[in-house]
Amino acid sequence: MNQPKRYLITAALPYANGLKHIGHLAGAYLPADIYVRYLRAQQRDVVFICGSDEHGTAIPIQAMKEGTTAQAIIDKYHPIIKQNFDDLGISFDIYHRTSAPIHHETAQEFFKVLHQNGDLETKETEQYYDEQAKTFLADRYIKGTCPNCANPNAYGDQCEKCGTSLSPDELINPISTLSGNAPVKKATTHWYLPLNRHEDFLREWIIKEHGNDWRASVVGQCKSWIDGGLQPRAVTRDLDWGIKVPVEGADGKVLYVWFDAPIGYISATKQWALDNGKNWEPYWNDKETKLVHFIGKDNIVFHCIIFPVMLKLHGNILPDNVPANEFMNLEGDKMSTSRGWSIEMDDYINDWVKKENGGGQMADALRYYLTTIAPETKDSEFTWKGFKTAYTSELSDIFGNFVNRAFVLMHKLCGGKVPPFHNDLVDDKDKELMEDIKATKEKVETLIEQYKFRDAQNEVIDLARKGNKYLQEKAPWAKVKELAENPEAQKLIDNSLHLSLQLTANLAVFINPFLPFTAQKMLHMMKVVDKMLQWENAGSLKLLSVGYTLRAPEILFRKIEDSEIAAQTDKLKVVLEKQQAATAATSATAPAQPAEKAAKPEAAPKAEIQYDDFAKLELKTGTIVSAEKVEKADKLLKLSVDLGTGTRTIVSGIAMHYQPDQIIGKQVVVVANLAPRKMRGIESQGMILMAEDANGKLHFVNPEEKINPGAGVS
Ligand code: MF3
Ligand code: ZN
Repeated sequence: MNQPKRYLITAALPYANGLKHIGHLAGAYLPADIYVRYLRAQQRDVVFICGSDEHGTAIPIQAMKEGTTAQAIIDKYHPIIKQNFDDLGISFDIYHRTSAPIHHETAQEFFKVLHQNGDLETKETEQYYDEQAKTFLADRYIKGTCPNCANPNAYGDQCEKCGTSLSPDELINPISTLSGNAPVKKATTHWYLPLNRHEDFLREWIIKEHGNDWRASVVGQCKSWIDGGLQPRAVTRDLDWGIKVPVEGADGKVLYVWFDAPIGYISATKQWALDNGKNWEPYWNDKETKLVHFIGKDNIVFHCIIFPVMLKLHGNILPDNVPANEFMNLEGDKMSTSRGWSIEMDDYINDWVKKENGGGQMADALRYYLTTIAPETKDSEFTWKGFKTAYTSELSDIFGNFVNRAFVLMHKLCGGKVPPFHNDLVDDKDKELMEDIKATKEKVETLIEQYKFRDAQNEVIDLARKGNKYLQEKAPWAKVKELAENPEAQKLIDNSLHLSLQLTANLAVFINPFLPFTAQKMLHMMKVVDKMLQWENAGSLKLLSVGYTLRAPEILFRKIEDSEIAAQTDKLKVVLEKQQAATAATSATAPAQPAEKAAKPEAAPKAEIQYDDFAKLELKTGTIVSAEKVEKADKLLKLSVDLGTGTRTIVSGIAMHYQPDQIIGKQVVVVANLAPRKMRGIESQGMILMAEDANGKLHFVNPEEKINPGAGVS
């Protein structure tokens, strides 16, 4: 696409069923915000859309837990989540909600158009019904025994103990959670979106058109969905919470939450336009709009397959990109609000942001660290130690330190004013720094436009690092002693500080999309207005005029104490202890089971071998192209691995560690000449190398960067 006329940027609408954690923030909202702030600095026409997803079974289920109504739940969480985003500098143009009447109308209109055009099908099926509660049961309302691990409390859509996704029919001894009775089967009619009709379109659009510019993991997941055969998807539900299905004979039925929620992007745009005297239509109908959806990887199929089909049928534009992120773990385990193993945005704000009366430096601290560990290509890991280290050794010691030194020295050696630059005395070091400032502009631009925010932010820190090196080498403080005998000494001092200050101004422009509060503080120190942050100023060496008086430096990043970090890790310890106590209690009747998984003992060393023994192995890199569970074997996944020369079927014992859709596109190292072996009736044609950590978790062994499948490993 050439320069788009306008941008519409969306971030996944979070369910308003509870607080949202920093993994959510890192997955969708922060990268979207960086992108949007960059576009705004470029004076582009951009609208940033988000809001609460207030339908689906998640809401009434939370209401049951809290002993209140669904309406009370969304009215409780919507404003908190909205405020949390605001406190962390996530700058939506609108944070809407799907319970708004304009959304109900928009979603119903959308459904009607598809219905009238014959783009939906109806089908009658038998579904579980609770005769006492007189209602059909959503999957989540049915409990029973898991066919996979015998957990007696598995839900109709998933067993939370073993992670298997289920359908209610698979549960052994199902019961209704509403009445506690066994449900009966009853016929019901629903509307379906026949995805199977759109396979050619999807292949063409995703794989041909975007196979190279979308992230490999996104394309890989879509491809495995399409290859797996697209089925009609029900877009209505028997439920009393949601948007009424707007056709005759659909009493008691609502739109499926995943049908209505993405339409929320459209209704929010409408509301934004109403509030701002704009026209919403070109944002959704004009091909010159660039639409980008920021999401986490669990939302890929909805944003890359289902919603695009809906948009195409309804006559809207399609997304230009869907830069989905992988997941962020916390201190070695998956983040989960329900298990308490997470850091809610709300908690972080209370513990860190609110304590510093509005400066936003701790909001930026979080933004900074989350971007340095952004799960852009693989799952990543938040640790409090990592947080402190990144903050202290990069943000504070490099960026903050440079800005502070430039200001302090300017006040000391140049009378608190921007000193002149004496061209006759320019040297190679000055020139190199000027080049670096200019080059950073292009590097950051390219990276942001490729959605590589982690690398882009790194470039900014790198430039500050160069600034420190420059000041160190120029050592203007040492020149003071020469002032008496060397008439040029002051000029040399001037030059080094003039450039350092221009660099400081540039750093404000560069860091602004990432750390907006810090950029504002720097503006204040430099006594300049917002306009300076416009992107066209990046790379300029004339941002501060000679003779201009600047303020005293402010501390951009205060020290973080070990005790503050300890307070956070202690909180997590409490969660762990509670979990262990709970496990110990439930296993009291079961055979004894250690509360905590003992760390694995180190394996005994093996006997020495000769090179020839090693050379017998044929090791190759491969790419996982599909993965599925092996029936009745909870440890096994059946993988197809592309080895460059062809695809092999490999059965691997990693099902307890990875979900099939997590690993599509992953590179692995395969023992390619291992004799084939039958496992559960499937011939496994090789083995994948895995490393096992102290907790018994398996990790892939793979090349540092993606390389061609089939590459030899030795
Ligand atoms: N509420 C969903 C989730 O948290 C995301 C909805 S995104 C939308 O997974 F596109 F449907 F809005
Ligand atoms: Zn199970």
